[in-house]
Amino acid sequence: FSAFLTDNFGRRHSYLRISLTEKCNLRCQYCMPEEGVKLTPRGQLLSTSEVLTLARLFVQEGVEKIRLTGGEPLIRPDVLDIISELRKLEGLKTIAVTTNGMNLARLLPRLKDAGLDLINISLDSLVPAKFEFIVRRKGFHKVMEGIDKAVEMGYNPVKVNCVIMRGLNEDELLDFVALTEKKPLEVRFIEYMPFDGNKWNFKKMVSYQEMLDCIRQRWPDLEMLQTGHADTAKTFKVPGFKGQVGFITSMSEHFCGSCNRLRITADGSLKVCLFGNSEVSLRDVLRSGASHEELLQIIGAAVGRKKKQHAGMFSISQMKNRPMILIGTTSQRP
Ligand code: GTP
Ligand code: 5AD
Ligand code: SF4
Repeated sequence: FSAFLTDNFGRRHSYLRISLTEKCNLRCQYCMPEEGVKLTPRGQLLSTSEVLTLARLFVQEGVEKIRLTGGEPLIRPDVLDIISELRKLEGLKTIAVTTNGMNLARLLPRLKDAGLDLINISLDSLVPAKFEFIVRRKGFHKVMEGIDKAVEMGYNPVKVNCVIMRGLNEDELLDFVALTEKKPLEVRFIEYMPFDGNKWNFKKMVSYQEMLDCIRQRWPDLEMLQTGHADTAKTFKVPGFKGQVGFITSMSEHFCGSCNRLRITADGSLKVCLFGNSEVSLRDVLRSGASHEELLQIIGAAVGRKKKQHAGMFSISQMKNRPMILIGTTSQRP
């Protein structure tokens, strides 16, 4: 495995998240401020060919999984071309996307044809009015349609991401678990994480333990399942249910030790940690006409600066980072 993608703690970074756009058709409260964020001028965003050049380089060095994120990746006009081109890369085993689901039902057949393997969809409430309050837009039924269609088309597992916030949707935990009775979904409850502009505070965060206790009161026989070495979620199943549930415990029990992720923001910066503020612009290096070898040296140096773990939830809630929308709604472990 490439030395450039191995850090000082022996972690091999075989999973790359590429943010395709800073734009989004929703305004989720936990992701960005109501007024939106200042967007990077178009010319400073990675072009299709720059995205593909970087992807090719990382795959040559051992990346096996690429997840496309955003903003909302499915609003980028060339998303299908990017997926088809990625599909041609030898060594790339998995192409995944994390989407808000708004355009999913319509695009699914073409996404599948282009070669998309896995889909994660955000859904924070099963009550349409509450959904609209959280995402500050309409669209609940479109997202549900996208989820159902992904299942129908054979995507497995279809993961549903649900950020639990106290006073907002914590009362829907059991309803979300109940959703997995008939549908073969993996619903993942995510601890609310601090990012710039999202008004995080400790009291709004519902911890993994608290969620688990609540679910166990209703389903005492909830079973813990095995998970892969570098998975973000700890997974469980109610015996007899078709689907399962997971918990992403970035705050209460981080999983930095097994982190295998790197991320590239839409403006071309390499971020080696979701909660790190040291970035290097691969876009600038690419545009300076650097050779692949020079790019690799710069990537390797950034990976070499990756910290053992994130600084803890209170420190990261104070530090300067980016709003989630500008990081890539999905990405690298702390
Ligand atoms: P899989 O490839 O299916 O494991 O996806 P994922 O869980 O890595 O990605 P997804 O985009 O669905 O993100 C789900 C949640 O996990 C989001 O809240 C992400 O911010 C969070 N997440 C993703 N990667 C990391 C990470 O490296 N560290 C931390 N702390 N959280 C992450
Ligand atoms: N805390 C936890 N998860 C978040 N996401 C976005 N912002 C936050 C946050 N502050 C999640 C969304 C999306 C995923 C990519 O990131 O639920 O599904
Ligand atoms: Fe858009 Fe995703 Fe951010 Fe919501 S979490 S505003 S869907 S990018």
